[in-house]
Amino acid sequence: MQRRHFVRNALAGAASAAAAVAVPATAQAAPGMGLTNVVFTEDDPGHFAKVAKLHVPIVEVMGGKLKVRTPHPMSEAHYIVSHTVVLEGGRFLGRKTFNWKDQPVSEHALPAGYKGKVMVTSTCNLHDWWLKEVQV
Ligand SMILES: [Fe+2]
Repeated sequence: MQRRHFVRNALAGAASAAAAVAVPATAQAAPGMGLTNVVFTEDDPGHFAKVAKLHVPIVEVMGGKLKVRTPHPMSEAHYIVSHTVVLEGGRFLGRKTFNWKDQPVSEHALPAGYKGKVMVTSTCNLHDWWLKEVQV
């Protein structure tokens, strides 16, 4: 019985201590997302700020198609793994995976007449998951 109280009190103390720890500025919420250092964006590159320009996907919309390019060098040790495109409301549009010998470029046909937000991700094997949102 005493052991049960000890464990409960220890857990309660640990929880309140964790709540009292100040969150470092670099780990605070991204504007509007709350995902700093989880999802990387141009506006919130977190701890990968120095390599942001190589990872943010570049999106062009041309005649109902989306062309996605990541300006990232490709080598066996360090490369872009995939692009994913999701429409407003979480509607999955497509995914393209790459190996290190590929160019990180993909094309995705939008549904006819689609107007709305498009979320495009580019994933690096060393620098995680980068998101670009565009409006079409
Ligand atoms: Fe990278």
